[in-house]
Amino acid sequence: MSPTLVRSLVTILEAKDISTAAHTWRVVLYTRALAERFTDDHQFLQRLTYGAALHHVGKIEIPDAVLLKPGKLTADEFEIIKQHPTLGWERLRRFNEADPLVLNLVRHHHERWDGAGYPDRLAGDAIPPAARYFAVVDAFDAMTSIRPYRKEVGPEAADKAIDELMSNRGIRYQADAVDAFVQLYRSGQLGWILEYFNDRCPMPDYEALDNCSKVRPSKPPLNAPDSPKPE
Ligand SMILES: [Fe+2]
Repeated sequence: MSPTLVRSLVTILEAKDISTAAHTWRVVLYTRALAERFTDDHQFLQRLTYGAALHHVGKIEIPDAVLLKPGKLTADEFEIIKQHPTLGWERLRRFNEADPLVLNLVRHHHERWDGAGYPDRLAGDAIPPAARYFAVVDAFDAMTSIRPYRKEVGPEAADKAIDELMSNRGIRYQADAVDAFVQLYRSGQLGWILEYFNDRCPMPDYEALDNCSKVRPSKPPLNAPDSPKPE
């Protein structure tokens, strides 16, 4: 898929649900930071970036009344939301996307290691590897992003999210994937992503999609071992 088409699809989704914009960018950057620990294969990183950027493309087809509902979803509404991985996969197939890495990440990002996820209830090694790692990234972002009930996000919320990931290690998430992400977080390399996008700084330009490191600010990350304590 061309970078232009990726950007167009992500832009359509952002226009429908603005809260998705920051989420998409953070998960793209977390995913890249994690993958760069394992490989410097530029092509692989690019394909992974597209998969992460498009993981919620299926939400374009979810009715606004459900997607943007401020309150708690009913069981029926949640069933509708749960269609987004398959809807996204189908949409990409209609656009002739053939890369299994992208397709699998979009379709399987809500599968769980113990088989209790959706849409296909895959378990363990049957879940494509990129989706297993992405599930950890996605969960961390869900637990550390600004919500109606969570106005501030800092190291405390992030530490809590890390504890939660650890307690689901080998249950909901692949143990190795949790370990790799937690190690990365503890090395201080993710704090800038957490801080940069929580409405304190302008969103980066989507032109930066091809080079995520371009959007990294020069200030030290929040959880860097030697960064000064916030006032
Ligand atoms: Fe999702």
